Amino acid sequence: MKHVELKDVVFSYQEGQPVIKNVSLSIEKGSYTTLIGHNGSGKSTIAKLIVGLLEKEAGQIIIDGLDMSEENIRKIRKKVGTVFQNPDNQFIGSTVRDDIAFGLENSRVLQSEMDAIINRFAQDVGMMEYLEREPENLSGGQKQRVAIAGVLAMSPSIIVFDEATSMLDPRGKREIKQLIKDIHHVNEITVISITHDIEEVVESDFVYVLNEGEIAMAGKPKDVLIQTDKLISLSLDVPFAIKIQELFEKQNIHINKEINMEGLVKEICQLK
Ligand SMILES: Nc1ncnc2c1ncn2[C@@H]1O[C@H](COP(=O)(O)OP(=O)(O)OP(=O)(O)O)[C@@H](O)[C@H]1O
Ligand SMILES: [Mg+2]
Repeated sequence: MKHVELKDVVFSYQEGQPVIKNVSLSIEKGSYTTLIGHNGSGKSTIAKLIVGLLEKEAGQIIIDGLDMSEENIRKIRKKVGTVFQNPDNQFIGSTVRDDIAFGLENSRVLQSEMDAIINRFAQDVGMMEYLEREPENLSGGQKQRVAIAGVLAMSPSIIVFDEATSMLDPRGKREIKQLIKDIHHVNEITVISITHDIEEVVESDFVYVLNEGEIAMAGKPKDVLIQTDKLISLSLDVPFAIKIQELFEKQNIHINKEINMEGLVKEICQLK
């Protein structure tokens, strides 16, 4: 089932200068879809269009069967959660507890039910011990965890992560990436992850590549990511396994292209 659909969407910040040009995409319910592209290609703009923070100029946006329109926007906002790049801009409350609760208060959840919900998601993201702490004093990774708990508490069926791990150190990155994967598996949430991390793309179900506000490539990572020359021409990275395979090729050793390391090692083992 299609969960998010864009049909010929156009958007401009300045009149006559579209930054999203006839973009069509379709994201399956429960899938983990990555969206990649060079700086300024329009990824965050697409995220904001999907969440309803920006209004399209032309085309159609359909979220969970609902057409993005004035009358549906409140319903749609309840379905879609977002986690942005900079965790510092996502805090409003004076404690972690307040922050996770913030969206819930807005959606008029009963006070009596609130604590149970907060505890559950604080637990899920491993932040139970920090509930009474001030969000400002947390590390970047911890802040992102709290932001994610706040989004999960609203029980969205779609979450858009816009470079949610890019400010974190390798350990923070690993942990949040794992957390996103767990959320996806356990809650069957449709995940749209905007990322510059090509290894994350390797593990996703589907990838869209943006270039200058247009979809340049789309498909399963195993089909898209082996097109090395095209990726490089779009200012993008190539999976590590492909780089290794190409180094072997230079030594005249032919190995079938594999986008993940496990597959590559299997191929190498068959060489003997
Ligand atoms: N508020 C704004 N006003 C005017 N132009 C903007 C605004 N936000 C973004 N743009 C322009 O729109 C284009 C797309 O920007 P967008 O932020 O969607 O890119 P992106 O793919 O998310 O890039 P990055 O990888 O750097 O995050 C860019 O050319 C950018 O300069
Ligand atoms: Mg961006």
